[in-house]
Amino acid sequence: MASNLKTFMLLAVVCATLNASMAGDPDILTDFVVPPNVGGPLDGNFFTFTGMRALVGTPFPTTFKVLKASMAEFPALNGQSVSYAVLQFPAGAVNPPHTHPRASELLFVLMGSLEVGFVDTTNKLFTQTLQQGDIFVFPKGLVHFQFNNDAKNPTLALSAFGSANAGTVSVPTSVFNTTIDNQILALSFKTDLATIQKIKAGLSGKI
Ligand SMILES: *[C@@H]1O[C@H](CO)[C@@H](O)[C@H](O)[C@H]1NC(C)=O
Repeated sequence: MASNLKTFMLLAVVCATLNASMAGDPDILTDFVVPPNVGGPLDGNFFTFTGMRALVGTPFPTTFKVLKASMAEFPALNGQSVSYAVLQFPAGAVNPPHTHPRASELLFVLMGSLEVGFVDTTNKLFTQTLQQGDIFVFPKGLVHFQFNNDAKNPTLALSAFGSANAGTVSVPTSVFNTTIDNQILALSFKTDLATIQKIKAGLSGKI
């Protein structure tokens, strides 16, 4: 009995270690995955995403903008454990605190500067001011943000993700722009209902 327990515990440790080493999307059993709606002979076009051509020769946006090349926009990424997002920050723009539940993020500042930060599971904040050419990693699943703290110049960044479908959970939106009961929020944030209503109204565009 005791040796059975030992074997079981050993197996549990081995499984946990294996699990930890599989940090990407689940492996596929084929070279790539073609959705059923893709007809005709397969060629290089299936493996090409042209959506970022929209950036070329287009004026910089006036609000923070994300252009994604994830599995939804680029089906060939299914099973490949990678994706991209192009982030455009006009002067003073913020990407509010959010998490990516399924991927770490590797951000590369192509133009301008960027203040970034994330909070780990001990509630410690790590921040950095990135310059053009710098790369920063946001560990998987942790709350993080980006801010172009420049009054004049825009910032362009490219983020790579270790998942074809990293997912985004925005903290302001998921907490204050759903129908979570106001009383629960007021108790959770140790404040009154009016304060919660005010925050909710701002996010829903009703202010
Ligand atoms: C909040 O939700 C409303 C309704 O679904 C939506 O129109 C609005 O864009 C959301 N606001 C934010 C900041 O996501």
